[in-house]
Amino acid sequence: MTVVRNATPADVEGVAAVVRDVWAREILPEVCRAQTEDDTSGLWVAVEEGHVVGFASAFLTVNEAQDRRWELDLVAVTPALQGQGLGERLIRRACQDGAQRDIALVRALVRVGNVASQKAFGRAGFMTDRRVYHLLQWSPRPARTPAAAVDGVSLLPVDTLVYRGLWIEGLEDVSPIRQSSAVAAARSIIARGGRLTAGALVAADREHLLAAGVRSRAETIGAYYWFVTPISAAGTQRQTMLRHGPGQCPQRVVDFPHQLTERQHEDLRSHIRSRVSG
Ligand SMILES: CC(C)(COP(=O)(O)OP(=O)(O)OC[C@H]1O[C@@H](n2cnc3c(N)ncnc32)[C@H](O)[C@@H]1OP(=O)(O)O)[C@@H](O)C(=O)NCCC(=O)NCCS
Repeated sequence: MTVVRNATPADVEGVAAVVRDVWAREILPEVCRAQTEDDTSGLWVAVEEGHVVGFASAFLTVNEAQDRRWELDLVAVTPALQGQGLGERLIRRACQDGAQRDIALVRALVRVGNVASQKAFGRAGFMTDRRVYHLLQWSPRPARTPAAAVDGVSLLPVDTLVYRGLWIEGLEDVSPIRQSSAVAAARSIIARGGRLTAGALVAADREHLLAAGVRSRAETIGAYYWFVTPISAAGTQRQTMLRHGPGQCPQRVVDFPHQLTERQHEDLRSHIRSRVSG
């Protein structure tokens, strides 16, 4: 029988082995250990006969508007045991524990082509409107002057199991000059802190809002959907539909009835179609 439980420092090597099997890469063991101990992050493992066969990793981010998001950053199941519901169990467990941390939502970024992951998140109660986001990344670049905060843009240092980086949010909502300042600040912060990369997710249909100088210095890493589940004040997942706010992240959500009429289904389908083609 496979048990899903909180990870302990003794599970770090087991998590590393799953990451090697699934992505052929190494983890940052000190970040992994910290996630088992720190209240602003979480790590859960699926264990079978004493061996770690899967894990989920999450951490808290708080943006400029003070929205508290539980970022379900990585989920993986060892290849031989995929397709048996372990991914869904790990995701549900990460949501339950996240809900104890006064968060508004749990969200996960899933590659457009990753059908297994999309199904696992869907089964665990997440929703997406399939709006396509491009992940853009900038490399470290030291600056002579100290990095200053830029109004309207959140710069969020993140420590994940596989990299230390910085997320930029709200970039395309501010003027070209402020975009340049924010990216310069982000690049100097990661250069100073020994972080690997600064990244921003920009909706494909809003990428034209980026300043040419900002866009041209970025590398495009891939295309993603946000999968989101809101958490009620009582700490439970709610059935919802995504609605995009003015920022690039679908942070606003509205309750929607469990049973949709055929007409509502058609409206939702055409909304999703227009998002994908838009
Ligand atoms: C994504 C992942 C964690 C899902 O875990 P899982 O235990 O396989 O997921 P579940 O069994 O809960 O179900 C996922 C669904 O995807 C399907 N599925 C699983 N592996 C699949 C594959 N290789 N190709 C297509 N579908 C797959 C399952 O049959 C199931 O479909 P269903 O709802 O129609 O029955 C796992 O497949 C995995 O580790 N993938 C590689 C790492 C990864 O992509 N992680 C997510 C991004 S961080």
